[in-house]
Amino acid sequence: MTKANESDELLSVSHVSASAGDKMILHDVTCSVGQGQIHVLMGPNGAGKSTLGHVVMGSSAYTVNKGTIVFADKDITSAGVDARSRAGLFMSFQSPIEVPGVPLNSFLKAIVAQHDNLDLKGKRYKKRIAEIMQQLDMDPSYLNRELNVGFSGGEKKKIEMLQLLLLQPKLAILDETDSGLDVDALDVVSRAIAAYRSSCDGALLIITHNTRILRDLSIDRTHVMVNGHLVAEGSGLLVNEINHDGYGRFIAEAEADQQ
Ligand SMILES: Nc1ncnc2c1ncn2[C@@H]1O[C@H](COP(=O)(O)OP(=O)(O)O)[C@@H](O)[C@H]1O
Ligand SMILES: [Mg+2]
Repeated sequence: MTKANESDELLSVSHVSASAGDKMILHDVTCSVGQGQIHVLMGPNGAGKSTLGHVVMGSSAYTVNKGTIVFADKDITSAGVDARSRAGLFMSFQSPIEVPGVPLNSFLKAIVAQHDNLDLKGKRYKKRIAEIMQQLDMDPSYLNRELNVGFSGGEKKKIEMLQLLLLQPKLAILDETDSGLDVDALDVVSRAIAAYRSSCDGALLIITHNTRILRDLSIDRTHVMVNGHLVAEGSGLLVNEINHDGYGRFIAEAEADQQ
């Protein structure tokens, strides 16, 4: 594989080992995502995929014991979540949080205020929100509801996609954005990804078992994680191979390597 020019490289994870409490989860993980590229991260349940996403986002639940994370030419290994978000990182969570008492609109305004590069004040904010809500088939009354409380899985996903389109990050990590969603909600996710790509040509790291949302995307690299190790990397064709043959080959190879 040819190495991307330094200026093309957006995220570079080098030899990262990470733990939660006493539990070592990630072992010597190295991977990189170039500007505007689409990468897919696959692996059996419990492999450490979500952990890698959280570690890149700087979640305080995890400790990076070794290695470095560089994003947009800056070492962010010990940066906080907010700084990473301002630098252009975004992650959509498998289980989004509920914040009772905070209306969605206040929440969105607070996030926008933290990203002063966005230039979305006053009328421009309103106009952009209205535009995105229309793109995602969202009723404007959503804005007055408490954040995620009583929202269905599909509605929560729409709100995350709204955030994605509002923030236009340089890299969006989508963690099992498709799990448990019905066909209509999957369609919204696909449309949001297409709108994100066409509005800012942002990069994507998609964690998924589901090929439906990958169908219309041109995948640059696929990474396979087993037991906290990245064990294989390949083209977009690897997604089809895994869907056909499962993870058996990778698990056997990982076990052989670890003996
Ligand atoms: N905050 C945490 N505390 C303790 N164990 C965790 C924590 N987060 C993840 N784990 C454990 O780390 C392993 C990898 O989890 P996860 O990254 O969620 O896997 P995946 O997303 O690939 O299904 C699992 O064994 C999980 O139980
Ligand atoms: Mg997960």
